[in-house]
Amino acid sequence: MSCPKRARRSCACACRTLWAYGPCYGSAATPSGAGTRSRGWGRIGCGSPSATVRPTTPCWRCSVSSASDSPPSPPWDDAERAAVYRAIAERRDMRDGFRPDAVDDAVLTRVLEAAHRAPSVGLTQPWDFLIIRDRAKRERIRALAERQRALYATTLPPARAARFDGLKVEAIREAPVNIVVTCDPTRGGRNPLGRHVQPKTAQYSVACAVENLWLAARAEGLGAGWVSFFDERELADELGLPAHIEIIAYLCVGHVTAFPPAPMLALTGWARRRPLAWAVHDEAYGRRGLPGEDTVNLIEQTIAGIAPPDEDAIRDARDHQARLTKPPGSLGVLEDVSVQLAGLAGRCPPPLPEPAAVAVFAADHGVHAQGVTPWPQEVTAQMVANFLAGGAVVNAFAAQVGAEVSVVDIGVAADLPPAPGLLPRKIAHGTADMTAGPAMTSDEARRAVETGIEVARDLVSAGARCLVTGDMGIANTTASAALIAAFTGLPPERVTGRGTGIDDATHAHKVEIVRRALTRHDLLNVAPGRDPLEILAAVGGLEHAALAGFVLGAAALRVPVVLDGVIAGAAALAAAALCPRALGACVAGHRSAEPGHAAAVDRLGLRPLVDLELRLGEGTGALLALPLVQGAVRVLHEVATFDSAGVSEKDAGPRNDMITE
Ligand SMILES: Cc1cc2nc3c(=O)[nH]c(=O)nc-3n(C[C@H](O)[C@H](O)[C@H](O)COP(=O)(O)O)c2cc1C
Repeated sequence: MSCPKRARRSCACACRTLWAYGPCYGSAATPSGAGTRSRGWGRIGCGSPSATVRPTTPCWRCSVSSASDSPPSPPWDDAERAAVYRAIAERRDMRDGFRPDAVDDAVLTRVLEAAHRAPSVGLTQPWDFLIIRDRAKRERIRALAERQRALYATTLPPARAARFDGLKVEAIREAPVNIVVTCDPTRGGRNPLGRHVQPKTAQYSVACAVENLWLAARAEGLGAGWVSFFDERELADELGLPAHIEIIAYLCVGHVTAFPPAPMLALTGWARRRPLAWAVHDEAYGRRGLPGEDTVNLIEQTIAGIAPPDEDAIRDARDHQARLTKPPGSLGVLEDVSVQLAGLAGRCPPPLPEPAAVAVFAADHGVHAQGVTPWPQEVTAQMVANFLAGGAVVNAFAAQVGAEVSVVDIGVAADLPPAPGLLPRKIAHGTADMTAGPAMTSDEARRAVETGIEVARDLVSAGARCLVTGDMGIANTTASAALIAAFTGLPPERVTGRGTGIDDATHAHKVEIVRRALTRHDLLNVAPGRDPLEILAAVGGLEHAALAGFVLGAAALRVPVVLDGVIAGAAALAAAALCPRALGACVAGHRSAEPGHAAAVDRLGLRPLVDLELRLGEGTGALLALPLVQGAVRVLHEVATFDSAGVSEKDAGPRNDMITE
């Protein structure tokens, strides 16, 4: 009779207490099928669930634990490893190019077997595979997906929608086999090992099965595409699934004409792959570093990655402008913008700066306590809610020019509930009062700059080809004035404005507050070589620091960043102090009514594109300038040259480039 107790006694190795009912690794692991209590598998190393057979060698587990001085298990040989890595690298999400050829049953079974070998929480194997070949059923399912796809398309700004248009769900119809991979989150009884505190591990397990299936399919020459444009309940009803079964993946599987060399979404410009180095952290989250390499200082690394403008591309852009069917120079500043962006991208024409994404960095300011504005601090959080609900001017302008709005909580005093479009990146609940001490610790300032870099990286990875600065923070024109005074050396009264519209007395008080803060931090006449991060920490806001990082991040990725008003101007001064080359990515969107802004753009050598006496912030002025930036680049792409259009050039004579009409 098979009895765990007797088996334990008879086992030669040390693992007996661990595997009272476990499988026998050391033996052939055949199901015992016998016994009263165990009713299962034999024990490790015992050779049999029965006590009558004694093992002669320790079981696998005990030999591992007793042999720490033995050599490590060898890797597979080169060809085998190469095959594994090849499958991983060449697995592709296939959306089209499916052939009608049937998929061989033996091949399909092998692929499903690979899926079925996936790791699963507590070995619950919570997956099932529903195979659908029926054409009419696939047609109905495609219609469900198409409806959701169309709904999603309506939420996209035009430049995104145009790219999305190419991403169809026809694969449901065109691939001869569809596989629905489901999850039974209740499988495994009440207490599966590992699922009790992390219930979602059932679904994670099924995702592992999907990946196994995908890899095996690639090795078999089969394409697989994962379509998730479904209302899950709607699809479950169509499939007649039991109520407790969840759908994890809907896969379209079949032979394909070719596998693309890179993710389709990358090839179509929808999104970019993030480098591994962005994703590997050493010991602590945020300490990035690849194994064997030094941990990366994100700010230094980003600055080191900012290249000077490409002179060849600049020359090409100037030459090209001169050959376009218009009088040379007739597009004024827009020609300079196109040349600048060619230099930034390193090619002519540069990529069209669309889609565009505006990031509104929101934070509160300790200096608010000094009575520099009549607006209560709560307005910052209230306006964030307004941005997220789509009710602010930035939303209206973004909709008008086709930009996506994200809001970054970098330091709002209130705790904000999660919401779509909100990036919760709070460094602190507002800054400290700069008149009483540094507004931020140096660590906070550094982390805020790093966060700005990361937001730029995220938005660019998600497909943005142009970044737009936005900001929100009651009292942030006071911090801006202090930063601008510190970075330009101008006196507080020259750079301190009326913000949201304060009276003379409040304005005079605000100037004094700025002066007091500058004096306290020895920033009235900044000595050369003072660390820009220290200046940011002393009198800046968390949104200024993050915006400085945002500018650096954009410049390192060679993506243009359109600056809004005085807050962005102050942040750009900090970014330029950290790395002057970052200015190659900056376009001043508009000239704010704030006096400090004029001082900032003058110092930076930037020419604002729009001058409408705006003083709202949020990113509004920059958004209005966005079509100008895009138009400037489109000219290089689309306007004919004298040669191509067969238009005669002006007689060579005395040049008068000022004649434009
Ligand atoms: C959970 C999940 C859901 C997905 N859903 C969709 C989808 O609905 N539509 C789509 O085009 N691709 C979908 N994909 C595929 C991804 O877009 C694709 O894996 C990614 O772009 C990387 O490309 P690659 O798989 O070719 O490397 C999904 C992928 C995963 C992992």
